[in-house]
Amino acid sequence: METHLNGIRLHYEDVGAGPALLLLHAFPLSGAMWRDQVDWLRGEYRLIVPDLRGFGGSDAPPGPATMEQQADDMAALLEQLGVDRAVVVGLSMGGYIAFAFWRRHADKVAALCLADTKAGADSDEGRAGREANARLAEEQGANAIAEKMIPSLVAAGASQAVRDELRAMIGANSPDGIAAALRGMALRPDSTPDLASISVPTLLIVGEADALTPPAEATKINMGVAGRPTYVAVLPDVGHLSAMEAPEAFSIALADFLVQLGGW
Ligand code: MLT
Repeated sequence: METHLNGIRLHYEDVGAGPALLLLHAFPLSGAMWRDQVDWLRGEYRLIVPDLRGFGGSDAPPGPATMEQQADDMAALLEQLGVDRAVVVGLSMGGYIAFAFWRRHADKVAALCLADTKAGADSDEGRAGREANARLAEEQGANAIAEKMIPSLVAAGASQAVRDELRAMIGANSPDGIAAALRGMALRPDSTPDLASISVPTLLIVGEADALTPPAEATKINMGVAGRPTYVAVLPDVGHLSAMEAPEAFSIALADFLVQLGGW
């Protein structure tokens, strides 16, 4: 499906019926990364699955795609769809956006699931690396980003099928959208001070072998979040993109959390 909001065309899926979840994908993927979770949960829940600005079928306007802008896009999407509150699920960059969403639109958050993400901002070195990758995307295209990133996105033992799917998903994205998201992530603030204000139930999921945002980052979030209960699921032998690498374990952890929430 397609809509227009905040000056862009945004592509999204809206499937199932019941209490709503908003699924925010990782960089540099698209809403398609949530396919297995959608299949798993659609019988009981409404799944709203956007291609974030710059990715998939959504527009990639010039300039950095900040986490705040992405969060405001999501608030506008929920408003258009008549959804007052959703469980916000964000993996990695999706988690950065979930933090911004919490800062700006907390009234729309029924609960949070933060997967393979971190609260901290980039270091100077991290920002320089993002700018180098943005230029790589602009000069050599999305496939160059796929080749560079895939080894760190999944665990060493990840299947060829997952790697092929990732290559196709990343390669289909626009280089401009990839560059815009990289520059947007580089600008994101430290979300650590916001953790103490998180008053909704929170689930943390992380791949045990996540090389980019390892379990220690989930522990830091867990220590900071004020809202209780907080749940943590560490998925063994799984890398950064845990929802794709271990779809069943991820979906079971999320479904278990949702059952405990009841309705919202
Ligand atoms: C992601 O998976 O969204 C990225 O690894 C996030 C990042 O580059 O910080």
